[in-house]
Amino acid sequence: MDRILLKNITNTFSIILFSWYFKNKRDLPWRNTTDSYKIWLSEIILQQTQIKHGLPYYLRFIEKYPDVKALSSASENDILKMWEGLGYYSRARNLHKTARIVTNDLDGKFPLTYFELLKLPGIGDYSASAISSFSNNELVSVVDGNVYRFISRLFGINTPINTSKSLKQFKEVTMKLISQDNPSDFNQAIMEFGALICKPATPSCSVCIFNDQCYAYKNDVVFDFPYKLKTKKSINRFFNYLVFVSEDGLTVVEKRSKKGIWQNLYQFPLFESYQLVDLIEINKQVESLEYISSQSGSIELFKNQSIVHKLSHQNISISFWIIKIKSLNTNSISFNKINSFPFPKPISNFLSIFNLQ
Ligand code: ADE
Repeated sequence: MDRILLKNITNTFSIILFSWYFKNKRDLPWRNTTDSYKIWLSEIILQQTQIKHGLPYYLRFIEKYPDVKALSSASENDILKMWEGLGYYSRARNLHKTARIVTNDLDGKFPLTYFELLKLPGIGDYSASAISSFSNNELVSVVDGNVYRFISRLFGINTPINTSKSLKQFKEVTMKLISQDNPSDFNQAIMEFGALICKPATPSCSVCIFNDQCYAYKNDVVFDFPYKLKTKKSINRFFNYLVFVSEDGLTVVEKRSKKGIWQNLYQFPLFESYQLVDLIEINKQVESLEYISSQSGSIELFKNQSIVHKLSHQNISISFWIIKIKSLNTNSISFNKINSFPFPKPISNFLSIFNLQ
């Protein structure tokens, strides 16, 4: 496993790390509080999201929902709307569930301990460790992507980090390194070091305070770490959104209630196909829809093109078909109200251009 002996470094690791951290840490709002609600919110937002992208969302959430009770009284739609553009929407749905559980079943008191936190929706090992250490100084180490990269390089650990045994192994190593007196700052510091120095593509090895001990640096294999097993190939999907526009400014949107991507967000009626389709195919689909009855109208591909939206395991080619017809009745809404619905990013991007026309 570890190519250099862990015991050579454990005693001094946190002291060296702290000497770097307290000089170089970024001033981030969730670092100046021990309020577990705010820390929870920041950690859920920051999973799979870069700080510069997540920070404005965090500030908007705290402003609108200053405590867990306020968040629990919001509807799931309100939360999904605020989350629009952050992606991985199960985080938002779980945020809502957890806020309600804490308010209704736990007397509004956000749990502070690792094991209590793990029972809540959307909280796994990483979030439970982060929240309990940052808000309660609990002696438990965090292992996020930054920590995997930094620690695997430092010790030459070649266990693939996307396998089930890696977390236990990295947790054991970091528990040997953690500061007993100050787990909270230790965890912030080890993540910060990975984010600012031991970076994925442009690590600052020449100024790294651990370079004389770093397995990957000394063996010139920095970019081999962290090890990962090849994941399955992305699949290609083709989404055709049918954007109805009636003469009196109505359209149709529906909720994606099925499990899978974008659950509980809204969309225009969707026709999913096996490949890119042409106007003739779309025309057939439109004619088969009950609520169009036998009206004729015009159909046009928006901007004459599809866009490709990449998710972690899917490439989605999206086409917006603008269908102008005389009238709509079933489930139609006014285009003026459309911005109150939570949409996936490609649809809100489309609307921001289409609404201007
Ligand atoms: N990424 C995830 N959690 C973080 C934190 N608390 N500080 C900085 N970056 C983070």
